[in-house]
Amino acid sequence: MEAKRVYIETYGCQMNEHDTERILRLLEGSHYLETKDPKTADFILINTCSVREKAEHKVYSALGRFKGLKKKGAIIGVAGCVAQQGDQLLGRIPYLDMVIGTHAIPMLPQLLQKIEVSGKRICETSFDQNGKYLEAVLPQKSPVVGSIRLDKVKSYVTIMQGCDHFCSFCIVPYVRGREKSRPSREIIEEVRHLAELGVKEVCLLGQNVNGYGKGLEKEISFSELLGRINQIEGIERIRFTTSHPKDLSEELIQAFSKLEKVCEHIHLPFQSGSDRILKAMHRGYIAVTSDAIVGFPGEEEKDFEETLDLIRKVQFDDLFSFKYSPRKGTRAAQFEDKVEGKVKQDRLSTLQEIQKGITLRKNQELEGRVEEVLVEGCSKQSTQDVKQDR
Ligand code: SAH
Ligand code: SF4
Ligand code: F3S
Repeated sequence: MEAKRVYIETYGCQMNEHDTERILRLLEGSHYLETKDPKTADFILINTCSVREKAEHKVYSALGRFKGLKKKGAIIGVAGCVAQQGDQLLGRIPYLDMVIGTHAIPMLPQLLQKIEVSGKRICETSFDQNGKYLEAVLPQKSPVVGSIRLDKVKSYVTIMQGCDHFCSFCIVPYVRGREKSRPSREIIEEVRHLAELGVKEVCLLGQNVNGYGKGLEKEISFSELLGRINQIEGIERIRFTTSHPKDLSEELIQAFSKLEKVCEHIHLPFQSGSDRILKAMHRGYIAVTSDAIVGFPGEEEKDFEETLDLIRKVQFDDLFSFKYSPRKGTRAAQFEDKVEGKVKQDRLSTLQEIQKGITLRKNQELEGRVEEVLVEGCSKQSTQDVKQDR
């Protein structure tokens, strides 16, 4: 049977990157191989992110680019977080054939086949209660030439998905559903399989990995899970993302010192340095972290100054920072007192300038030192010598 070609464009976080890998592996089973050139594709899929407005806009411009290819017979689909808008998307984009939600990935090959046979448009965005969407799609031990290879050194492993926190700015709980953990036995099996294939580093994924284990038949904590993965032969490094500061337990902090394979890095998004804003964000704490939003509704100059104070005090190695972007359906979208676009931009630039100085100084401190590193490959940016983790 002659293979068909699939082209996937991926936006958003690591969860989406990993979903794309899983989709490619699933489609390989129905004789679809990956192409990097959309013009040669029989199926074009955009795996989308809706965390900020800009991310969502990218989807529409990508769809515009592929409109011409639809005329040549390609099937066009949208997956990921924007896809959760469902029928609305089909209504808005008349040449779109498929809308497939974040929980429907395992159904993708069958849905694609249905479209091939019937030519009908399909939308599948329901949330699945039994957790099938969390199951691994394992890479093969001896991949066929031209198929999706496994990144040999490093691999993502989903341990949970969804979020129950409902921070007032965030769309994630609405597009990924409630927190659901994968049984530890399945995770261990997957990591063992990856180790056999030569993987050295696993990155455990979840929107709130510290919440791992809740609701499982045999409840185990995130730290216990780390302990078990730490024992798997062949795995040398363990990373995870993302952790909510609220759920950061003493046990987890201990795990960093006890478990030699857990990398000495934690990504703990703090969002704002102001207690007042944190309360409105429904975060409920103040902590040492590393994602930040500027321009949340009601953020005044003095709130912003508190964020800068925190950054100066904490001295993060690096910081991801964003302008607040109202997401329809979230509580904060209705908050009064929106911060003007220019003010947001100015605050972002100020914050990033300060952080750039801190990061540079931290990097300079490392000059001349010998450190353990894992070479993953070439940087995507030719001018850069090191690849950032996210
Ligand atoms: N689960 C993670 C965050 C996932 S979203 C956590 O709670 O820490 C990644 C980052 O995007 C967030 O930490 C936040 O800084 C940013 N973000 C989310 N929604 C946003 C919005 N509406 N506007 C601007 N930035 C946002
Ligand atoms: Fe969004 Fe993270 Fe808050 Fe969950 S904990 S609602 S994913 S920012
Ligand atoms: Fe974006 Fe969805 Fe990830 S909204 S950040 S792709 S969970």
